[in-house]
Amino acid sequence: MNAQDRMYDVGGVMLPRPFKPRRLGHFALWHTDLAMARRLYVDLLGFRETDTVVRNGEPVAVFTSHGTDHHSLAAIHASTAEGVRKAHYENGVLVNQISFQVGTLEEVVHAHEYFAQRQVPISRLGRDFPGSNWALYVLDPDGHRVEFYYGMEQIGWDRRSKPAAAYVRTVRDGFSLPQPAEMTEIINAEQSGVDLASGFRPAEALPCDYCVGGVMLPRPFKVAKIGPVGLFVADVDASERFYTDLLGLTKTEDVHYGGHRCVYLRCGTDHHCIALYPLALRRELKLNASTTLMSIGIEVATYKQLKDAVLFLREKGLRLIDSIPFELHPGIDYAAHLIGPDGHLIQLYHCMEQVGWDGRPRPGAERRRVEPVWPQTIEASPDTYVDQVLQGPLG
Ligand SMILES: [Fe+2]
Repeated sequence: MNAQDRMYDVGGVMLPRPFKPRRLGHFALWHTDLAMARRLYVDLLGFRETDTVVRNGEPVAVFTSHGTDHHSLAAIHASTAEGVRKAHYENGVLVNQISFQVGTLEEVVHAHEYFAQRQVPISRLGRDFPGSNWALYVLDPDGHRVEFYYGMEQIGWDRRSKPAAAYVRTVRDGFSLPQPAEMTEIINAEQSGVDLASGFRPAEALPCDYCVGGVMLPRPFKVAKIGPVGLFVADVDASERFYTDLLGLTKTEDVHYGGHRCVYLRCGTDHHCIALYPLALRRELKLNASTTLMSIGIEVATYKQLKDAVLFLREKGLRLIDSIPFELHPGIDYAAHLIGPDGHLIQLYHCMEQVGWDGRPRPGAERRRVEPVWPQTIEASPDTYVDQVLQGPLG
């Protein structure tokens, strides 16, 4: 057995890598105008602001969440990009990070050894605040930063983030195991006089005018999940090898469109969490030539919410485009593609095809035909409304 064939004990299960990406937990984008990003993510899409990092009196990062994780979507000011990451940014990599949650802190540390041995560019092994997550960052072949993190600060019923005074251990360059539990850190902070109720708590500026499934909310929908992330890449073969052979994502299917091969990859049962498209397709689809990000996916909980969200967001000034071919989002039937004020393409949908134990996607002939005019109601599929775990109340 050579080194490439080695198997690793991951929590008692032998796997070909010493870690397993369990889910796409969050992602972040570079922005030059954080007020604009905040308006899009918080005001329009309804992500809850959880912390804003300020340096020299200016905000440099806005963290937002749709659930109990400290952040699921973050906007980072491009002025903070340094070194090779600045070079990638200037080359069109507007993705700050694509972040996968793994099962344990051990997996993060072992992933570091694994990637270092394979000469994968490593951005950092450390721990960040806000969010408290321990993480490894590596770069994909195009310079998109991929994170593997363990754990994440959870925000509960009072919507209050951990106060900065309880940020006990920022780690810049590596760490050893074991580490104290989050609970131990919190108890120690409290015993040293930190007011745990002094963290940031957002105010909702908009009136709750919309009834969403029986609950009055500021928007006619609620984000239920983030992802998939669509990336334009220079070499689809090389990126596929990176995300499958090295990272351990599973290929669900290829789509051949207009002579281009596009690849759809999954880490769980969702049809895909990452989609890879060749750069040449960006031009043919007449999409934003200044970014390698094709789209960010945002799932809402129901078909009705999807329809209502499209109306709401168009009313608020987002531009709906119909130039994304149906074939390019397999596993997602009804989808709307909206362009935000910053030029990012937002893929809004309500349901993702689920891939079961046999690993096979639904045959094309079995997939729903999407009508150009969306009907009032649609037939259920066997995997309708099975792919979401909505935590807590809607608002
Ligand atoms: Fe992260």
